[in-house]
This record gives sequence, C-alpha cells and structure tokens, in this order.
Amino acid sequence: MTSQTYEVQSADKLAHIPGESGLPLLGQTLNFVYRPEQMPRDLYRRYGPLSRGHVYFEPVVHMIGPDANQRVLTDNTGLFSAQQGWAPILEHLFPGGLMLQDGEQHRRHRRIMQVAFKKDALAADLETMRPLVEQTLAGWPESMNFYPAIKRATLDMAAAVFFGLPLGPQADRMNRAFSEVVAASMAILRLPIPGTLHHRGQRSRRFLEHFFAELIPERRARPGNDLFSRLCTATDDDGSRFSHEEIVNHAIFTMMAAHDTTTSALTTLTYLLAKHPDWQARLRAEALAVGPAAGYESLHELADAGLAFREALRLYPPLPMMRRRSTRAFEFAGHEIPAGTPVNLYNHFSHHMEAYWAAPERFDPERFARNEHRRHPFQYIPFGAGAHTCIGLHFAEMQVKTVLHSLLQKREIRVAPGYEMPYQLVPISRPRDGLPVMLPAR
Ligand code: HEM
Repeated sequence: MTSQTYEVQSADKLAHIPGESGLPLLGQTLNFVYRPEQMPRDLYRRYGPLSRGHVYFEPVVHMIGPDANQRVLTDNTGLFSAQQGWAPILEHLFPGGLMLQDGEQHRRHRRIMQVAFKKDALAADLETMRPLVEQTLAGWPESMNFYPAIKRATLDMAAAVFFGLPLGPQADRMNRAFSEVVAASMAILRLPIPGTLHHRGQRSRRFLEHFFAELIPERRARPGNDLFSRLCTATDDDGSRFSHEEIVNHAIFTMMAAHDTTTSALTTLTYLLAKHPDWQARLRAEALAVGPAAGYESLHELADAGLAFREALRLYPPLPMMRRRSTRAFEFAGHEIPAGTPVNLYNHFSHHMEAYWAAPERFDPERFARNEHRRHPFQYIPFGAGAHTCIGLHFAEMQVKTVLHSLLQKREIRVAPGYEMPYQLVPISRPRDGLPVMLPAR
C-alpha cells in the first residue's frame, strides 16, 4: 500500500511562531471554510508570510504568498510530503492517487501516467469529446442553472473519454457512484454508520473498484482510445507497468481531480463572459473564425479564449489552497518549523495580491498578454507547481476551449441585470446558487 501514517502535530511545538489558535476545539476551521478569501489576507496583514494556526482539529502553519509557494513547491529533497499533507482529507477515499505519493514512487508513477496525456492522446480525447459536447449543448434549455448542467455534462464526457463508456445506464451507474465518493470526501464526520455520506462513499468506492477491476482484462486485451486503456497498457522505459490495484486507484483519483476542477473553471468563465459582453463578443468572433469543428491544432488559434481561461483561474482558482506536511525541521521567515507540521499554501491569495497584480479584482484577461503574471514565478499557480504540477492542465484547457467554442457559436450567454454570483471557495470553487443563466439561441 502507498500510504504512510502521520502524527498530529503538537500545538506546543509551534508556540514560538506568531499566530493564533482560534476558537476552542474548532480553531480557525470556521474562518477557513466560510471566509477562505479573507482568512489568509488577515493573517498576512497581521503576521506576514508565516503564522501558526489550527484548522480541522490540527495545529498547522499558514505559509502565504509567492515566496512561500516557491519554498514549498520547488523543494526536491523530500522535505514536504504531499502524501502526508493530503492524506487526512483524501486518503480514505482516494488512496494511491498521484497527489498521495512522494519521492521515487511518485516519479515512477507520474512517468508512466504521462503517456496518457501526450499530444496524440489528447487529440484522440478531443475526437471523443466533441460530438458529446455538441449533443449536450443542443439539449440545453434557454434558461437554466449552469453549474449542475455542466457538472453533469463533464461527468458524461469523463465516462466516454476516460473509460470509453457511451451514454447509457452503465455510465449513469458509474457517475452516480463517483459523485457519492466525491461528496463523501467532503464529509467532516467519518463514522461507518449506514445512511451517512461517509458510508455511502465507502460503498460506492467499493463498487467503482469492482467495476474498474473487471474492465482491466478486456482493456488490456483490446485497448480503446480512452485514458483507462492507456493506464492499462502504459509502460515505463524499463517495461514495467501498473498493477491492477494501481490502475484502479489512478483511475478513480484522476477522475476526481479532473471533474470538479474543470466544472468549476467552465462555470466561472461562463459567468465572467456573461458579465463582460465585450469579451464574450471577442471570443465568439474568434470561435466563428476557427469554424464549426475545432481540431486539436486549431484550439491554439483560440488565443483570446486562452487569456480569458487564465484570468478565470486567477480570479477563482478551482483548487484555492494546497497542503503538504514537513518531514524534517526547516526554516522560513526567520522561524524554525518542526518536522511533522502541516503546511497550508494559498494560491487564491497570491492570485489577488496588489503587490503583483494591477487592480486584482478586475476581470482583465489582457494582463496575461502583458506578462503581469511573470512578476514573480510563483504568484500565479492555478495548476500548482513543482513535482505535483497538475498532469491534466492541457486536457483541462482543451476541454474548456472545446465547450466554449461550441457554446459561443450557438448561444448568447446572459445573466439577470445586476446579478453577482455568490460563490464558495472551498473545497473547490463553485457558485452557491448554481449560476442561473439565459442561453438564447443566436
Ligand atoms: C481547471 C482544471 C484543473 C485545475 C485548476 C487543477 C488543479 C490542480 C492542482 C492545483 C494540482 C496540484 C495539487 C498539489 O500540488 O497539491 C493538481 C494536480 C493534479 N491534477 Fe489537476 N487540475 C485541473 C484539471 C485536471 C484534469 C482535467 C486532470 C486529469 C485529466 C487532472 C489531474 C490531476 C492529477 C492526477 C494531479 C496530481 C499530480 C501529481 O500529484 O503529480 N487535473 N491539479
């Protein structure tokens, strides 16, 4: 098994670091969950880039800002463990996923998985994806809540692109099980009591394990053009390939990592284009110029869509924070931080710092053409950085551009006058109201 145990850090060992412990028992958890934009801002203003705190029943350090991101994400000496950082949140339902691996094991698995994300693989994924996008959008009403509709659509796309399953009862059953696993990963209470989120999640995880394990011999014998087939057949330079258990773990984890994040990006970008009709018109003109069926290469021509995508990820990073745990003592901002300390990084905060961004709250995709995001190499990290940089970042951009390309050609995107999207940032950015939109045909 891939997991390593970790010990909860003792608050005494962090007492020398400036910061606060928050409420009895709950610590800063309520602020972390309900004021996730404000919390790192307040902490940075009061204490600078390092402070101690207490989140989710455990003492932590908050490392805030681009220098902190750089210090943690570029370390290649094994000082910061992703596995031990993410384990308390993800390990019970997503064991063995890439983000839950470190060191040599992670390097080996990532090398094998990379095959599934090469250019020709992505081009094949696009061929599977495009007709589904067309079919889905054709069925959308002129007025609806965007978030649940696109969430459903990206699940259907994942069933086809990741697992080669056509729309139908088999894909529906898999998607239902998958949604239950993801919902359970957010549960704070994790008791094996029937009827609870956690219990349903565990049951669905077992269903998925069984479902995928049964698919492996078939896909090894007759691989299709889907990501799962690539995981079943991919080999390392020395010819080694994944075991059945590893394939199943990677498949479940990758689907989780891909789904809510891309759904989030598509939702916030749709909202921003509704609020900024000038950019919507610009992206539509670009989409019409490329023509009805954008192939993999022509997606590069959607340059303005690329800028708008980057800006949406800056304003609303789907994964607004990251976690690690120190494996040894280290120094940062003049303080020694002991081994075993959970480290929280806040990309949302770095994406909004006035020191690096002009009018950071303004939607201004051109800032990426002006290279504003290059003032510090770690001020803009929607896909993370270093060894665990998102393996699906090109896939995500391809999917977002493909949906937009199709949507903009056929529909207008509008929201009610004066509408402002209420959104929640953690665990993954999303609108609280589902984002009601009007999509009149053009
Ligand atoms: C806009 C969409 C996406 C965003 C914003 C995003 C964001 C991220 C971030 C921030 C990380 C690093 C986490 C860390 O270092 O702790 C990550 C890792 C990862 N992502 Fe994505 N992701 C997106 C889409 C996808 C897609 C489409 C896939 C797969 C098809 C995917 C698969 C993964 C995997 C497997 C990892 C773990 C990589 C590793 O640990 O080596 N992601 N993602």
